[in-house]
Amino acid sequence: GRKIAISTGGGDAPGLNAVIRAATLGALERGWEVWGIRQGYRGLLDDAPDGLIRLDRERVRGIAHLGGTILGTANRGDPFHYPTPGEHGLVPRDRSEDLVRRFRAEGFDALISVGGDGSMRIAHQLLQRGLPLVIGVPKTIDNDVCCTDLTFGFDTAVSIATEALDRLHTTTEAHERIMVVEVMGRHAGWIALNAGIAGGADAILMPEIPFRFEAIAEKIRLRESRGRRFSIVVAAEGAHAQGGELIIKDAGDAFRRTAVLGGVAERVAKELAARTGKEARSMVLGHLQRGGGPTTADRLLALRFGAAAARCLVEDCGSGMVALRANRIELVPLEEVAGKTKTVPLDSDTVVTAREMGLCFGDEAP
Ligand code: F6P
Repeated sequence: GRKIAISTGGGDAPGLNAVIRAATLGALERGWEVWGIRQGYRGLLDDAPDGLIRLDRERVRGIAHLGGTILGTANRGDPFHYPTPGEHGLVPRDRSEDLVRRFRAEGFDALISVGGDGSMRIAHQLLQRGLPLVIGVPKTIDNDVCCTDLTFGFDTAVSIATEALDRLHTTTEAHERIMVVEVMGRHAGWIALNAGIAGGADAILMPEIPFRFEAIAEKIRLRESRGRRFSIVVAAEGAHAQGGELIIKDAGDAFRRTAVLGGVAERVAKELAARTGKEARSMVLGHLQRGGGPTTADRLLALRFGAAAARCLVEDCGSGMVALRANRIELVPLEEVAGKTKTVPLDSDTVVTAREMGLCFGDEAP
């Protein structure tokens, strides 16, 4: 029998445990041995005694509905820039060769890497460094991984954001306020768009459509004239105004990004209050969108991805990322995925639907 390793990297997404369970069972059924690597690749690179976990039936029992990941994950565990203690704190070092050596020394034949675009790029680079075989599984609540119709975690995040919008309606209307809700999505507005429509928002701001403050203010005034004295705005964290009025950048290191999180909603609320004379509040949904168990749809998608990953290994399809395409699971080359972001197409049916319902994206003509 062969021996495989599973790792989960990057920000967590509901459904990770379902992937681990299905991939493990799929491999065990074929008589293979399965191990989990702790905290991204840390379990292989740091000399911790419990860096690798044997995954047997007992270990993956009853976990499909649980959030988080039983393996843990790592945000800054890129083996090519691995944080290593230096003279003045942590410095990034290339530990990819150590990783490949350790992987082979442990007798692993293949890796299942569950992660976002960053993890897919790393997986691709590790193959070039000599890792024998890698199957990637696309994960992100943001839904911005290229070459797959969907990622697991997205449906859960949209559901949570939609429920928040439903709840915010009553308090916002009671106070006749403007409420600006910030959802995740640094590079793509999938969550903002889908939750915004489902949750009956009046305006949706997303990175794909730079907005003008005045266009949103105008929409709020129009609602007032129709007797709707409150308005709800959803903003993706990566949304920005036209002409750089407000630029939210992806600030590489974790601390600065935390500082940036929360920037958009607050700024938009202040600006709209000033322009409309109405009271405005803002809130950041933040990591609530990633917490807790997956929806049934995400659980199912994650199980399908996990089973497909094990199937690809058994059928010797070579390396690649499992992807959902027109409800079929396919294997796409990692180099096709690496370094790309899937943003919302402006002519997508969801955007058209929103416009037809009179939702404002902030790009409407003055
Ligand atoms: O990439 C997923 C994501 O949810 C982004 O939308 C968000 O900017 C980021 O993770 C925040 O995650 P963390 O605080 O864990 O770095």
